[in-house]
Amino acid sequence: MKNSTSLAARLALMVGATLLAALAHAAPNLPLVDPMRGATALDQEAKPPLMQTTENKDVRRGRAYAQQPPTIPHQTDGYQVDKSFNKCLNCHARSKAEQTQAIPVSITHYVGREGMPLASIAPARYFCTQCHVTQVEAKPLVENTFTDVDALLPAKAGAKKAHQ
Ligand code: HEC
Ligand code: HEC
Repeated sequence: MKNSTSLAARLALMVGATLLAALAHAAPNLPLVDPMRGATALDQEAKPPLMQTTENKDVRRGRAYAQQPPTIPHQTDGYQVDKSFNKCLNCHARSKAEQTQAIPVSITHYVGREGMPLASIAPARYFCTQCHVTQVEAKPLVENTFTDVDALLPAKAGAKKAHQ
């Protein structure tokens, strides 16, 4: 009895393995394309693209949508941001804005996890460059058809009018 069960189990395993192999064979062999790595195979090391030069124009860029973290219009090379010091806050803290004329971080940066306003920067907002990037003149890596809501709404209203 014991023998026949194990035989049946082995048979089932063999059938399963054959089916899996067939499936793997049938899967289309599409190339994996990651615009950052290019066509380099996954087991090969890609040549990283050259680092872009940071713009340093002190000109603020518009935001594509209201919740976008604004891009940084100045260089940040060598700015220390660690547990002992935050160079960004040295200018951007609410208390420093008058003296430095930097745009103070908004109120959202002082809201803790429970939604409570804090007296100092929220820990989740401490590492500024997690969200804010310096400005570079980079070409988009993938096609993007994002449309600003300010452009979308008038276009929709226009289309509605045309139907009436
Ligand atoms: C020496 C002062 C100083 C330091 C340090 C500094 N900034 Fe600034 N930052 C400014 C000033 C002034 C502006 C206004 C535009 C300009 O003059 O470049 C600005 C603008 C910005 C803006 C644009 C805000 C907007 O609404 O468009 C962002 C984002 C920003 N800084 C992030 C950072 C981050 C992140 C760091 C740290 C890595 C940092 N800054 C360090 C002075 C500073
Ligand atoms: C978790 C993401 C995140 C982190 C971390 C973060 N920010 Fe922001 N920041 C945002 C977003 C999103 C906005 C735009 C909406 C808003 O004000 O919340 C913004 C807005 C700003 C603005 C513009 C404020 C205004 O009123 O126009 C400044 C300046 C800024 N951040 C600086 C900083 C600095 C300096 C740090 C580090 C101490 C930092 N941010 C950390 C996401 C972040």
